[in-house]
Amino acid sequence: MTDVPSLVKQLDALLAEALGEVSAASDGDALEGVRIRYLGRKDGRISGVLRQLGALDPADRPAVGAAANRVKARLEEALDEAAAALAAPEDAGRALDLTLPGREPWSGGRHPVTRVMDEIYEVFRDMGFSRARGPEAETEWYNFEALNTPLDHPAADEQDTLYLRDSVLLRSHTSPVQIRTLESHEPPIRILAPGWVYRRDTYDATHTPAFLQVEGLVVDEGISFVDFKATLAEFARRMWGPGTRIRLRPSFFPFTEPSAEVDVKRVVTAPDGTTSETDWLEIMGAGMVDPAVLDAAGVDSERYTGFAFGMGPARIAMLKYGVDDLRTFFENDVRFLEQFVPGGLR
Ligand code: DAH
Repeated sequence: MTDVPSLVKQLDALLAEALGEVSAASDGDALEGVRIRYLGRKDGRISGVLRQLGALDPADRPAVGAAANRVKARLEEALDEAAAALAAPEDAGRALDLTLPGREPWSGGRHPVTRVMDEIYEVFRDMGFSRARGPEAETEWYNFEALNTPLDHPAADEQDTLYLRDSVLLRSHTSPVQIRTLESHEPPIRILAPGWVYRRDTYDATHTPAFLQVEGLVVDEGISFVDFKATLAEFARRMWGPGTRIRLRPSFFPFTEPSAEVDVKRVVTAPDGTTSETDWLEIMGAGMVDPAVLDAAGVDSERYTGFAFGMGPARIAMLKYGVDDLRTFFENDVRFLEQFVPGGLR
């Protein structure tokens, strides 16, 4: 039977069927096949329905014609959309491909200087050292005078030290923590004091106006030069390997007597297995604590002796990782930093 409602129903059923085929079509050829099957002039199924218009009362024809146009327009629109989505496969894939692996969040990693500091802490912790801290804003007394450094010493000059106001300054080294610790703790003392220090330096490949230091101090009855040298030799072996040797070069610091610059010579193994020794590399300043320092802190220098040392972990990181410009540690370029994280950042 051919009447208006049944023809409109047939058209809607055909549309639903055609839309199903459009969304199943995986390429342009499949879409063209749908177009021909439903909209083809000669054999298209929708065209076939329209051919039955002739059997209708002329007054009913416009209603069916309008329904047919609506169905055709909807199907053409769906075909165009599907063709556009297939032409931009990347976007379509990104929106829809649930089989792609998820994006892993960045895991971050420790800064190369932090890694070196952590290694230093670990070695000294195993030798019984604890951690001490002091303020970054210091007085001239703690930064210089108590450390046996008179204020007319070149280091105390405003050329080198950043003063905040009269007699208050940004500490130029971590050595004032020695005094603060000696004042507040009875020997035996074995401490490591890490922290930021400040100097009026130009920012270049080997200087930065703010840098990290790690200070060490040992004070007890009967501490000798042998304890001093053996402790630093053990540190060097733990840090750089069992074959590492140290050398003490005579030097001068107001707060130690005698004073030394400590160098290390490392054993390196080439890819072919042959070993060789590096040049001597300076790693720290050190010495036996000057009795005047113990006296200034109220510690009996007749009864107690000790040794002290100070090093720059950024300098040690430069030696360790073969970095030749200190500034790269401050610029936080991820491509530089991720080289020091095993497995990379990610
Ligand atoms: N305070 C010195 C500096 O900043 C480093 C230093 C040298 C620390 C000898 C010490 C020491 O404790 O014994 O250059």
